[in-house]
Amino acid sequence: MYPTYVRGLPDGSERGHFLALDLGGTNFRVLLITLKGIDVEMKNKIFPISQELMHGEGTLLFDYIAECLEMFQREYNLMQDTLSLGFTFSFPCKQEGLTKARLVKWTKGFTCPGVENEDVVRLLNEAIARRGSSINIQCTALLNDTVGCLMSCAFLDHNSMVGVILGTGTNACYMEHLDKVLTWDGDFDEPKRVEQSENVQHSDAISRKVIINTEWGAFGDNGELDFIRTDLDHVVDKASLNPGKQIFEKMISGMYMGELVRLVLVKCARDELLFSGETSQDLETQGRFYTKYVSKLKRDEESEGYTNTKQVLDELGVEKYTMDDCRHVQYICSTISSRAAYLASAGIATLLNRVNLPNVTVAVDGSLYRFHPHFHRRMMEKTKELLDNGIQVSDLLLTCPSCDLSPVVGCNEVHLLRYIT
Ligand code: BGC
Repeated sequence: MYPTYVRGLPDGSERGHFLALDLGGTNFRVLLITLKGIDVEMKNKIFPISQELMHGEGTLLFDYIAECLEMFQREYNLMQDTLSLGFTFSFPCKQEGLTKARLVKWTKGFTCPGVENEDVVRLLNEAIARRGSSINIQCTALLNDTVGCLMSCAFLDHNSMVGVILGTGTNACYMEHLDKVLTWDGDFDEPKRVEQSENVQHSDAISRKVIINTEWGAFGDNGELDFIRTDLDHVVDKASLNPGKQIFEKMISGMYMGELVRLVLVKCARDELLFSGETSQDLETQGRFYTKYVSKLKRDEESEGYTNTKQVLDELGVEKYTMDDCRHVQYICSTISSRAAYLASAGIATLLNRVNLPNVTVAVDGSLYRFHPHFHRRMMEKTKELLDNGIQVSDLLLTCPSCDLSPVVGCNEVHLLRYIT
């Protein structure tokens, strides 16, 4: 649980030009965002991050980011301007302010030495400075992607109080009363200018509260989930780059879901329950069953003859499969993805019970949530089931505000600037 120093949510009145950087997976994005009320204009460029950069020295990663920022500035003719930048950095950080955040540990396959325990805003600003006077950018705020997701949604829906990411990794944030944050070392009175919103809940939200980044992906790292972890969960964990860490994440997120399915398929085949007891070289290869296959398979209906399932099995070189095998593969995918949706729902219900407000909107984003055809429905059902009696969430809405995360960062940036000035 990390306080984020973000003390309020946008209300749709934000305006201006903003630069944003989004780093959290195998790509990173640079965005130029113009907000005009609820209209958002965006220019955006995606840069790949190679395996060498994901595992090489941290300074190389930050130098590459600075180089791409400069390319972006040149391409959009922004070299004359001094731009302030909002940095969405989707890894666990202990924030010491809006512009000071120490990386606690890498997740999602990154291992760059020299970054853990360091202030990542300083590392970025130093990399920018190393490029000399050709680039004029100052990082003015750092935030987690869950915070970006919540703020993006709050821009349009003032009842948003919880932000959830279900993608390569998973995590959630929520609005908490300052007096319940025992580690809070910031100001209790800021922001001084508390706008009057038509919505009472929202006015309350922007007064004495702060967004907490729960880093729920690390739940279970102290054995809390051992009672439900299976043998194959242990196999996934041991083979990962961070054994013993991010246990909840490894049972839910896109980085691990395909691998879990693969392990179950291989086990069933070896036990002669699938594919006439035969596997294939691809099926035996770690990481070869992509999580996107799970979503693809779940789009199949038996009446359509399992077209997608067959296509995936063909791609994996599985030769001897029957219609029954297809049905069983479907069932395995359903079970593993339902478990993930239910675990995420348990986390969401816990946060909603804690927030204890009527009509709360949960902002959800991430590739797993967006592309899996049944994830949303499963989460809606289970979350409602797990809410405390007496909590009225008649219009609980799991919402994906945009298929593009860019306005998220824009809103963050606008909001942060508004409250630090
Ligand atoms: C990181 C979180 C992030 C989540 C979703 C996790 O691995 O620890 O900070 O929010 O992935 O991107």
